[in-house]
Amino acid sequence: MQTAAWVTRPGPFMERARRRYGDTFTIRIASEGTWILMSDPEAVRQIFTGDPAKLHAGEANVVLRPILGPNSVLLLDDAPHLAQRKLLLPPFHGERMKRYGELMTQIAEAEVASWPAGEPMTLMPRMQRLTLEIILRAVFGLREGARLERMRELLAHMMDWTTRPSRFVAMATFGPARVERMGLFKRAMQPVDDLLLEEIRLRREDPALEEREDILSMLLLAQHEDGSPMSDQELRDELLTLLVAGHETTATSLSWAVERLLRHPGAWERLRSGDEAFLDATVKETLRLRPVLPLVARMLVEPMEIGGWSLPAGVTVAPCIYLMHRRADVYPDPYAFRPERFLETPAGTYTWIPFGGGIRRCLGASFALFEMSAVLRVLAARSELRPARPEGERVRRRAIMLTPHRQTEVVAAPALA
Ligand code: HEM
Repeated sequence: MQTAAWVTRPGPFMERARRRYGDTFTIRIASEGTWILMSDPEAVRQIFTGDPAKLHAGEANVVLRPILGPNSVLLLDDAPHLAQRKLLLPPFHGERMKRYGELMTQIAEAEVASWPAGEPMTLMPRMQRLTLEIILRAVFGLREGARLERMRELLAHMMDWTTRPSRFVAMATFGPARVERMGLFKRAMQPVDDLLLEEIRLRREDPALEEREDILSMLLLAQHEDGSPMSDQELRDELLTLLVAGHETTATSLSWAVERLLRHPGAWERLRSGDEAFLDATVKETLRLRPVLPLVARMLVEPMEIGGWSLPAGVTVAPCIYLMHRRADVYPDPYAFRPERFLETPAGTYTWIPFGGGIRRCLGASFALFEMSAVLRVLAARSELRPARPEGERVRRRAIMLTPHRQTEVVAAPALA
């Protein structure tokens, strides 16, 4: 029953459980073992600041290993995790993001220019195309031409192939080791690997490497603590990790932003007027009310006391983003989309957690926030949108993400489109 509720209607299921049992409760999901969801700010603070050697996050993601590869920062724990994270952090530093602003704006403008006018269209696939393009150009550093085209095609196909529900279930059922040995799977990944490894090899030889600003080029210059560079395999694994972690999450968040904004009278116009504080607050409010990931997970390596509860080794504690963001004591009128709340009160470290927290906090958080603002700025300036139907879109699960159930159905006005 719990598995069915978790899969089909995770939001109402979690809210029901909180009403019944309070901020901390246990759920048991088939094949996932025991999860303890927590949405008390103090308990969540303890988890995010706790000893990472006792709270493993990588282990929980092992199902992704066949795609991401064994070096992926998402799959590692302890010293190997920290080593990869240190290599990846500098290119994602908040200040650096400004360099990608122009590129993001250009890509968004081209996307808006391609929209049909006067007929219903679904925004989410278009946002996916847009965020894929931004990753390929800003992260992978590809420039216009045949290589970009080939990569675009292969990666879009790979993402589609691996996120189809039947494949996702099969991967979870067979386990990573068996999936990695399967011919069908190898054949699907081989062209992607070949192309990525070739790109890495070519970039290593690029005489202008040091002047390039994309993230792959910076990673090629990064060094392990012993002075050695990242291997081709490490680079390949991290590139795919950044793609998988950063592409659909941002596209879905952008789709939610538009879905909510168009039902908030005056908001679109306020964005169009260039109110930057309101834009920033809109991005935060979207990620609060419609977080794309409902929770983050840490597996307990040894028994621990968290939030006053004594918990055994082997269970997974899960700071619950979804429930935290709906706490009425932190967010008055929690179900209302009201960007203004973040103009009045700043986002709290342990109460606004769309990017998780602590040593595992999303590496791409600055990138994603910057990208969402850049894209929304263009959308508000260049398009006149209205919802295809007046009623808001329900939350619907797609693989592990919470997405708008009609994929944000909108109509663009002829004059501006
Ligand atoms: C709105 C968009 C995004 C959301 C909501 C999001 C959310 C998250 C969350 C919840 C986690 C897990 C954090 C934890 O366990 O505490 C995570 C991890 C991660 N994210 Fe994001 N993310 C987004 C965009 C991105 C982007 C654009 C990138 C890179 C280009 C990225 C790269 C990563 C990586 C590498 C990790 C693993 C960090 C680690 O294990 O140390 N994410 N993200």
